[in-house]
Amino acid sequence: MSILKVVLLLLFLPSIIRVTEPCQISMCSRKSIPIRFPFRQEGENCGYPGFNLSCNGNGQSITVLKLPSSGEFFVRSIDYMMQQIQLYDPDNCLPRRLLRFNLSGSPFFAAYSQIYTFLSCPSQFPKPAGFTAVDCLASPTNSVLATSSTGLANSMPPSCKIIATLAVPAAWPDHFGEGFSGGLNGDLRLRWNVPDCGACEAQGSLCGFKTNSSQEIACFDFPKAPGENGLRVFRIMCFSIALPAITFVVGFACFACFMDKARGNRANITARHTPTIVSPQPTIVMTGLDESTIQSYEKLVLGESRQLPGPNDSTCPICLAEYCTEETLRCIPECQHCFHADCIDEWLRRNNSCPVCRNSPSPTQHATSNND
Ligand SMILES: *[C@@H]1O[C@H](CO)[C@@H](O)[C@H](O)[C@H]1NC(C)=O
Ligand SMILES: *[C@@H]1O[C@H](CO)[C@@H](O)[C@H](O)[C@H]1NC(C)=O
Ligand SMILES: *[C@@H]1O[C@H](CO)[C@@H](O)[C@H](O)[C@H]1NC(C)=O
Repeated sequence: MSILKVVLLLLFLPSIIRVTEPCQISMCSRKSIPIRFPFRQEGENCGYPGFNLSCNGNGQSITVLKLPSSGEFFVRSIDYMMQQIQLYDPDNCLPRRLLRFNLSGSPFFAAYSQIYTFLSCPSQFPKPAGFTAVDCLASPTNSVLATSSTGLANSMPPSCKIIATLAVPAAWPDHFGEGFSGGLNGDLRLRWNVPDCGACEAQGSLCGFKTNSSQEIACFDFPKAPGENGLRVFRIMCFSIALPAITFVVGFACFACFMDKARGNRANITARHTPTIVSPQPTIVMTGLDESTIQSYEKLVLGESRQLPGPNDSTCPICLAEYCTEETLRCIPECQHCFHADCIDEWLRRNNSCPVCRNSPSPTQHATSNND
C-alpha cells in the first residue's frame, strides 16, 4: 500500500525539516545517536551542565559519557522523552565498573537499585543456583559469583570469600525476588530529573535555555521552515484525496469478495458434489525449513565478551532479550544474522526467510507453495 506510505511520509516530513533551532543537534558519526539538549557534544555552547558527551572509538563514531566519579562509559542510546540513558562498559565488563561505581557529581541516578553480593570462590567451585558467574572478573585460580540474595551469600562455604556487597543500578524493580533484573548482565540504565524536558519532548517540541544567560528551561516550537504553509496545504490535499481513495478501494474489495462468495454458493447449489470453498485444502502449504536444514546452520556459544560476528546487535530481534554469556546462538549462513538458537529454530520451522533481512536462507529444497 504505497499510497499509505506517501501519506505517512508527508505527515511526518515537517518534523524532519524543522530541526535547526534553538540548540544544534549533532552526532559523532552518521550512524551514531543524535546528541541534543540537555546533552551537548564537547565544544558546543548549548547544553546543560553535566551533560557533556564526547566522541571516541573507531573513527570517533562512539558516543562517550564521562561520569565525574566513575570514568567513561559508552552510550548505547538516549531516551529524551523518558529522560533515560543506556550505557555500557568499553571493556565489556560492567560488573568491574559497578564495584567502584559512584554517581556523585553527575546529574544521573539509578532508577532502581538492587543489593548484590560478590564472592570470590575457587575456580573449580560449581556455580550454585541463584548465582551469576561473572566471567570477566575471574582469574585462573578464582571465579567470581554474584547474587542478590543475602541469605544465599551467607550460606556459602568458607572457601568463598565475600568481595563486596553493594547497590547496583537496575533497569527495573525486582518484583519477584529472582535477582538479575538487568543489573549485571544488561547495560547500565540511568535517569535524570533536571532539566525536566520530558513533557516538552512528548509534545514533539525542542527543549532549551530560555535565554543565553539563564539556566531556565523553555520549550520551543520548531521554527517554521519557509514553504511550511504550502506544505501543509499539500498534505491536507493529499490526505483528503487519499482517504476517500483508500475507503473506496477497501469497500470495492469487500464488495468483490462478497459477490465472489455469493456466486460460489450458487455454484455449490447447482453442482452438489463440488466441495465448498471453505473446506480445508488437502495440501497445507508448508513454508518453513525442514529440521535437517535448520540444524545444519552454524551454532555458537556466546563468550564472556558477548561479541557477535557479522551485522548483529546485542539483542535478539525475535524475543528482544539481550544476549547473555554462554547462551547458544544460531546464525543464518547467507546473511550472517544471528539469533537465540531456540528463537530462530522456532521461526525457521514456520518461515523460510531471515526475520531481519527477509532473505531466504537456502535454495528451496523444501516444500513450497505450488498454487501461484
Ligand atoms: C562541557 O563542555 C563545555 C563546552 O562545550 C565546556 O565549557 C565545559 O567546561 C564542559 N564541562 C565539563 C564538565 O567538561
Ligand atoms: C561517592 O563519592 C563522594 C565524593 O567523591 C563521596 O562523598 C561518597 O561517599 C561516595 N559514595 C560512595 C558510596 O562511595
Ligand atoms: C546567544 O548566543 C548565540 C550563539 O552563541 C548568539 O548568536 C546570539 O546572538 C546570542 N543571543 C543573545 C541574546 O545574546
